[in-house]
Amino acid sequence: MADHLINILAIESSCDDTAAAVLSNGKILSNIVATQEVHKQYGGVVPELASRAHQQNIVPVIHQALEKANIDKKDLSAIAFTRGPGLMGSLLVGTSFAKSLAMGLNVPLIEVNHMQAHILAHFIEEEGFDKPEFPFLAMTISGGHTQIVKVSDYFDMKVIGETLDDAVGEAFDKSAKILGLPYPGGPLIDKYAREGDPKAFQFTKPKVDDLNFSFSGFKTAVLYFIQKKTKEDPEFVEKNLKDICASIQYTIIGILMDKLKKAVKNTGINQVAIGGGVSANSGIRQALVNAEKKWGWKCFIPKFEYTTDNAAMIGIAGYHKYLQKDFADFSVTAQSRYKI
Ligand code: KG4
Ligand code: ZN
Repeated sequence: MADHLINILAIESSCDDTAAAVLSNGKILSNIVATQEVHKQYGGVVPELASRAHQQNIVPVIHQALEKANIDKKDLSAIAFTRGPGLMGSLLVGTSFAKSLAMGLNVPLIEVNHMQAHILAHFIEEEGFDKPEFPFLAMTISGGHTQIVKVSDYFDMKVIGETLDDAVGEAFDKSAKILGLPYPGGPLIDKYAREGDPKAFQFTKPKVDDLNFSFSGFKTAVLYFIQKKTKEDPEFVEKNLKDICASIQYTIIGILMDKLKKAVKNTGINQVAIGGGVSANSGIRQALVNAEKKWGWKCFIPKFEYTTDNAAMIGIAGYHKYLQKDFADFSVTAQSRYKI
């Protein structure tokens, strides 16, 4: 293998997806994700089970990533891994594995912040996808986070707004649970919403200062609304599922877009990128397409496979750290709370 190639193996294990990817000079050669099904029956991620599943999955997932990339371990230039934020027991599996592998292969170790990686996913080389220019705004919306970030450079990021309680993904998942839909309910709300009337039911939007968000009150509003309506008609949810989902999604997207508009106004930056699991949502994607036409924004919407947790995004973040020779010490530890 020519030695000008920078081959990076990236490992992601912060929540309930065990993922590995191989990149060569920033190009994705493989991107493997094992989604843990065990949590479905509990209606949410069980940390102890997640950690155990990572231990079972990590070796086969990495093998598969190397095999698909057709790269031998000895041709790797560095190992990148998610240091945090995330579930401690889950992060420890990826961190320990990455450290041992880098040590064994005698290659540099690169630690990556999961939330930075969601944003840097926009720098993956993909045909038909433009890369944002600095500075730009990024809204990271997932099951664990809701942030608006001003991105001045690859690793110069500042959170300018975030949720004070639940993440937006939780607002989707908890609303879905109230409707009796299985976990994670976000994609199902999206699916039913496509055929429903978004204005059928009204939910009030929370009033939160500045660029911050709050979603805990929204979930309670959905719960009280459904309880009241099912008292009047026990089949209310069944009869109106599509309209309820469309109305919930419409309200949530409205909350996100109101804050984004405010962020664009406050910063004067109109390049907007989204990332994280909820950026797979068709409503938010459409809202950004509309924003380009209506307000002249330049929007960056990730490819589906780079929205939910994946290792390709860890790899691209690792690649840019490699170029800066920003390597981690072998004493590095996982951090469940890890600020951008
Ligand atoms: O980024 P991610 O995979 O994991 C975290 O870091 O949290 O995000 C998962 C979240 C879940 O809450 C899931 O319901 C939500 O992303 N999600 C969606 C959609 N696809 C995934 N929410 C709404 N619409 C979707 N299409
Ligand atoms: Zn994530």
